[in-house]
Amino acid sequence: MTNILHIDTSPRDARSISRQLTKELITNWQGTYSQDTVTYRDLGHQLIAPVDEPWIAATFSSPESHTPELAAAIKISDELIDEFLAAERYVFGVPMYNFSVPSNFKAYIDQIVRVKRTFVVNEQGGYEGLVTNKKMLVITARGGSYTQGTPAAQFDFQEPYIRAIFGLIGVTDITFIHADNLAMGDDARTQSLENARQAMKDIVSNW
Ligand SMILES: Cc1cc2nc3c(=O)[nH]c(=O)nc-3n(C[C@H](O)[C@H](O)[C@H](O)COP(=O)(O)O)c2cc1C
Repeated sequence: MTNILHIDTSPRDARSISRQLTKELITNWQGTYSQDTVTYRDLGHQLIAPVDEPWIAATFSSPESHTPELAAAIKISDELIDEFLAAERYVFGVPMYNFSVPSNFKAYIDQIVRVKRTFVVNEQGGYEGLVTNKKMLVITARGGSYTQGTPAAQFDFQEPYIRAIFGLIGVTDITFIHADNLAMGDDARTQSLENARQAMKDIVSNW
């Protein structure tokens, strides 16, 4: 039995393409692998607190030394990390915002990338991820297209960022499905959604 953590990050509801696609994927997945469990978190509607000074003080000190204030400062971080570690697979729906990720998803990442919980610094000063043997699928929604080899590719700070930051904590097996060209006219949009849905089918049969 596999536990999948399904996270949407678009603040849009029915009109959100990333939300529609992750929902279809999860529905198809559960239809095929009925024994698997899905944990859902909606970051489009639940604001995650930004990291602040008590958070930093708490994460860089031992839990035994924490005052009630410091313990409270990392409570949500502890919860999000426990949830993240309890899953073997991740399905994330992520719109491209200003060439990168929505700020609330960035706030989520800041809460879960935490020393001694999801990574450690070794004696040589290198980072070692603690979140190993996981697989991640990221379905993005984009108004334009940033395909490798095109001039626009240099503006894609979304896929490289997600690969780098989740790679740092140990999640290196990451598949991207880009629903792109969504603002480039009906034909481009239809074609892109068709391609994304085909890629989603392949994932359900072979992930
Ligand atoms: C604040 C904002 C910033 C955006 N920035 C970009 C961008 O940099 N590049 C792009 O291709 N599309 C951009 N878009 C378009 C969205 O990526 C596109 O509408 C996508 O479908 C949003 O995801 P959703 O449908 O799941 O809500 C932006 C949209 C918004 C609202």
